[in-house]
Amino acid sequence: MIYTHNNNELTIENLGETVKLKGFVAKKRDLGNLVFIDLRDQEGITQLAFYNENQLKEETLSIKNEYVIAIEGVVAERSSKNPNMTTGDIEIDVKKLDVLSTAKQPPMMVQDDTDALEDTRLKYRYLDLRRPYLKNIMKTRHLITKTVRDFLNEEDFLDFETPMLTKSTPEGARDYIVPSRNHKGNFYALPQSPQLFKQLLMISGFERYYQIAKCFRDEDLRSDRQPEFTQIDIEMSFVEQDDVLDVSERMIKRVMKAVKGIDVKTPFPRMTYAEAMRKYGTDKPDTRFEMFLTNLDEVFTDTEFKVFASTLKNGGSIQAINVEGGATTYSRKKIDALTNEVKKYGAKGLAWVKKDDGELSGPTIKFFSDNEIQALDTTLNMQNGDIAFIVADRLKVTRSALAFLRNHIAKALNLYDDNTFDFHWVVDWPMFEYDAEDERFYALHHPFTRAHDAHKDRLKDAPDKALAYGYDLVVQGQELGGGSLRIHDLAMQSDVFSVLGMDEASQQSQFGFLLDALQYGTPPHGGIAFGLDRLVMILTGTKNIRDVIAFPKTASAHCLLTEAPSPVSNAQLEELGLIKKTRDE
Ligand code: AMO
Ligand code: AMP
Repeated sequence: MIYTHNNNELTIENLGETVKLKGFVAKKRDLGNLVFIDLRDQEGITQLAFYNENQLKEETLSIKNEYVIAIEGVVAERSSKNPNMTTGDIEIDVKKLDVLSTAKQPPMMVQDDTDALEDTRLKYRYLDLRRPYLKNIMKTRHLITKTVRDFLNEEDFLDFETPMLTKSTPEGARDYIVPSRNHKGNFYALPQSPQLFKQLLMISGFERYYQIAKCFRDEDLRSDRQPEFTQIDIEMSFVEQDDVLDVSERMIKRVMKAVKGIDVKTPFPRMTYAEAMRKYGTDKPDTRFEMFLTNLDEVFTDTEFKVFASTLKNGGSIQAINVEGGATTYSRKKIDALTNEVKKYGAKGLAWVKKDDGELSGPTIKFFSDNEIQALDTTLNMQNGDIAFIVADRLKVTRSALAFLRNHIAKALNLYDDNTFDFHWVVDWPMFEYDAEDERFYALHHPFTRAHDAHKDRLKDAPDKALAYGYDLVVQGQELGGGSLRIHDLAMQSDVFSVLGMDEASQQSQFGFLLDALQYGTPPHGGIAFGLDRLVMILTGTKNIRDVIAFPKTASAHCLLTEAPSPVSNAQLEELGLIKKTRDE
């Protein structure tokens, strides 16, 4: 047996015991008359002491950081204790030492406060993962998946696997494709989600499916997105929307208790999509603070201020947020910085007004009539010391600029607590969104989402007015999960494909198998998928999705460790029937 204890286990209770430990050398200190080593394993750190009279001392001097060693020794009381460590009261008086593996000088400091750049950490990810910070996140990730599995197993869900080599399932991103050797010129797609397979399992008569599923999406990456990520994917048949929300809430409740020890209150509040957009300007509102968007269209109906007048004339909207007590915080310089930020969301400018001694002031005030100033003051309920930011643009731009500003300002002013978990549902999503540039409708969720029973006919005559049985779970301003009831009737499915601009031939070639299956008896069904990586981020308070994935990719979808993607040989290409083109061809 190489070891008797893990490095987080020994305490004053074990004094005098002979024990065996193993691990990596985290730190070595040579004090002349003795040498200390911090020995790190998966569970923690224990201090080893090599005393002068110990003939091992000479050997220990040759030991370097990250050597893998095993020792035998006696548990002794430390002279200077460390109350921050579970093993801080003891050390091991080492009697036997075995060097299991030597180590080169590592290219990074293997400790939580490492100064290594992220690129170095990703290239040497196996060293990075030795840091307790990442170890603890990986352990939390395990606890979350274990709790989820335990819960779903108890609730009679069956754990399935669905194909990785498959046909494209559109979830709004580009596919990763895999060339076929047997069918040259044809490609598999890696699944963006198991969506169609889980629906087909319901048609097969399975009633409760789950999968901790890898999904692949070739999209522009952000701090909360990876090209391959994991979903907790759920589907149920013979259910209504409330059934899916109920199971989801109980699952999240169980996870919150197991991981954070927090009792979250269920049912979670629900907000319609329309309300979320109106009050928060976004479909993933952070409800930990208010600062709602206020519509000022009526205030400025007859305005002479050109920017606002032309916005209204062109069908846009003027909206504002009032930052209570923010007047002194936001100097001109800071407002200029905010203006640059909102421009990234398409806004052309940022107007503002402050209230002091009962008077509104600001660079645009001179363009407003007395009535407008009065109405602005009351509509925004401005108090002395407040500052309001106003954006006038197309509704979509106005909302997204102010939604950004709201979050940005709340963070700067510390208006919320990172330990508040404001789980809530956004429900009643529209089926489609019209894209004026592309002159076509897009599915807001995905094309398999069922329209409200009362809105079936709108699919034909007013698709933009049809609402869906779609729902997102939002927490701390992030989309944690999304799902819907699904279409279980052929006519509605082809109506939806038609709205999306697919003629019968393309419906058949892309989704013929689904349209076929829908004709052999389909139970009403619905489900949801949670982003596991995002759940781990939220529960560990990590802002970087790469910290919750053992082997993540960079923002440009590069694996620095293996250097994937990488070129393949001409022979491989030939076998696949692929031709390499140079840039000029
Ligand atoms: P959706 O596309 O909303 O729904 O995805 C569900 C959840 O997966 C997470 N997620 C991601 N996490 C990390 N990186 C990404 N690139 C990424 N993309 C999505 C989010 C999101 O809420 N098939 C449907 C679900 C259903 O209808 O049942 C689907 O995939 O947390
Ligand atoms: P301008 O007429 O471009 O000099 O703008 C006058 C003021 O209105 C400046 O304070 C701008 O920041 C502001 N402004 C310009 N465009 C907008 C807009 N679309 N929404 C809100 N404020 C704007």
